[in-house]
Amino acid sequence: MRKIVISTGGGDAPGLNAVIFAVVNSATRRGWEVYGSRSGYKGLLEPDELVRLVPADVREITSIGGTIIGSTNKGNPFRMPVQNLAGETTVVDISGKILENFQRMGFFCHVAVGGDGSMEIAHRFAEIGMPVVGVPKTIDNDLEATDRTFGFDTAVATATDALDKLHSTAKSHDRVMVVEVMGRESGWIALYSGLAGEADAILIPEIPFDMDIVCRKINDNDLHDKRYSIVVVAEGAKASDGTRITRGQGELGRDEDVLGGMGEWVAAEIRRRTDKDVRSLTLGHLQRGGSPTTFDRLLALRFGGAAIRMVEEEKFDQMVAWKPPVMSSVPLEEAIRSRKMVDLTSDKVLTARDIGICLGDE
Ligand code: F6P
Repeated sequence: MRKIVISTGGGDAPGLNAVIFAVVNSATRRGWEVYGSRSGYKGLLEPDELVRLVPADVREITSIGGTIIGSTNKGNPFRMPVQNLAGETTVVDISGKILENFQRMGFFCHVAVGGDGSMEIAHRFAEIGMPVVGVPKTIDNDLEATDRTFGFDTAVATATDALDKLHSTAKSHDRVMVVEVMGRESGWIALYSGLAGEADAILIPEIPFDMDIVCRKINDNDLHDKRYSIVVVAEGAKASDGTRITRGQGELGRDEDVLGGMGEWVAAEIRRRTDKDVRSLTLGHLQRGGSPTTFDRLLALRFGGAAIRMVEEEKFDQMVAWKPPVMSSVPLEEAIRSRKMVDLTSDKVLTARDIGICLGDE
């Protein structure tokens, strides 16, 4: 009998529950026990945060967004910031305590579901002796080692639906609508939703944009009797003069900047440089919510099933990866090496240019 623990870390993504469903059912059918560690590694620190999961606990969760065991994108156990009563912050390493509890409780393996940050932490735990199998998730789709991460398809569907709705109101008022979407340092959500949602301009981090070129496209639309425009801005997009907007670090225990604000900046620039009426909106966490699409459910279920087969084969310190048409695995070290960026020679970028979408550079 094997005892395994599953955690979900980083920003949530539609499909996490489907992974949990597949892990619990596949492991139980092998006669193993599954435990869920709440909010990342909390369950391996505090007994109340560890929950036994049996098939009845996960019944009908495949279609539900979020994660039944909670998640966090703060508090790397290897450098956990703690604040004392005087408000001073010190950084402590609590990984040893977590490993000790994992071993004392007799766990055979940890299935860590998360994005690049969580995979890095999982790899570090593997290095100090915790058998780990990683499962990639993120709406950003920015993990190089796997063709897709679950959550991305749902986020793109939500963003595309929003763009479809914005067309009619933009048209009624002859307005420019600027829509900021998530994605961190990569432009996948912006590119896919902008293409599918017939945007006039798509600004992604991979292509620094020139505001003169974006405004020229908007004015050109007017000349062609299209008096409204839709501009999709990835939160990590940068202007060619280097302008990049973030909300800064700000949050205790969070390793990366909180992004956001670039859409508003682009809207202000369009307002200043044209005579158009401009409105902007940020889709934000809507993109992370709701029921996963069929594609994401299937991918997440397949990831969960593959993870348990990896545990069975004792393929530790590795991450499940989808390399169509097969489900495969890659060493975690390799999985965290590089971020997957939009390939500027890909047919999606070429198609965007061919159909007349402005990418801010020409
Ligand atoms: O990585 C997923 C993601 O949704 C990013 O696209 C976004 O920048 C970030 O998480 C938002 O994080 P938070 O939920 O902490 O605001």
